[in-house]
Amino acid sequence: MIVINSKTQNPKAQHSLPFEQYPAFLMDVLDGLGKSQKEIPCKYFYDERGSTLFTAICQTTEYYITRTELQLLNKLLPDISSRLGAQATVIEYGSGEGRKIRELLTALQSPRAYVPIDISAEILFDASRRLKKEFPNLSIYPLMADYTAQITLPEEISGSGRRLVFFPGSTISNFTPAEAGQFLRNIRQFLDPGDGFLIGVDLLKSPNRLHQAYNDYDGVTAEFNLNLLRRINRELDGNFKLHQFEHYAFFNPRYSRIEMHLVSLIDQVVKVGGYQFSFRTGETIHTENSYKYSVDRVIHIGRDSGFRHEQVWIDEEKLFSVHFLTAV
Ligand code: AVI
Repeated sequence: MIVINSKTQNPKAQHSLPFEQYPAFLMDVLDGLGKSQKEIPCKYFYDERGSTLFTAICQTTEYYITRTELQLLNKLLPDISSRLGAQATVIEYGSGEGRKIRELLTALQSPRAYVPIDISAEILFDASRRLKKEFPNLSIYPLMADYTAQITLPEEISGSGRRLVFFPGSTISNFTPAEAGQFLRNIRQFLDPGDGFLIGVDLLKSPNRLHQAYNDYDGVTAEFNLNLLRRINRELDGNFKLHQFEHYAFFNPRYSRIEMHLVSLIDQVVKVGGYQFSFRTGETIHTENSYKYSVDRVIHIGRDSGFRHEQVWIDEEKLFSVHFLTAV
């Protein structure tokens, strides 16, 4: 539901549509900025620039997630390949630029089909085209979708061979624990017993180490966070002044999560889509949660969602984990 203080509503608002028919991005932003703790769902980070900035985050020294997961995948993929056998179909959630999938597809024995799912059309189709050149015998069915909602898989992938759902990068961290459970149950519904689920999950660790990962020295994460305001200005007729907001990320031990916020540096009023929102100095927009897990917690969520936990791989520094589950 959208809650907007009527005193702050701009009478010149140009929207002729009823609220229910506003585009989802506008609805979510108006709704989120109307709350007492302002918030915007983190899925809106990923416009073209946001996706590029996220790729840059993955290459920073401080953000250990991507390189640690790649090292683990190189070790464990032969094992996954022999478990799945030939002609497997891989379904990847949040496929992005597709670096990790190359390693996975190369390790598998003549994979049959690949379904990359991503919210960003540009990145999805570019990556699929590039991959097709490298794997000409592989059928690729790109699916542009918001995978926080239930999705329908293409009919073409029904048939022989095991299915493997691949969910790397600890993207599960950006769900609340309840959403994470629901997400796994949704996935379980389209798998047959014995099908696999390979998931990368960031581990709970020293708050200082986590703090560094979300506050990199070059400010790439700050740029990524602030880009959300730039996107709102462009797509939703907003007038955020980016220099009047600051990136703020910290570990919240109560919820075992990193929180990202955008802090207002002054008292100010901002317009979005014809509506006004006031900010006090120090007030924040909560833009992302990144939950950090223990291995036991992952095992429990998997079991509660209809999976058997087969194996976990962890790096020497105990930073990151990759889990292989099978549907029961
Ligand atoms: C995509 N996701 C798992 C990243 C994370 O670590 O929560 C997004 C991110 N936000 C800031 N840095 C990276």
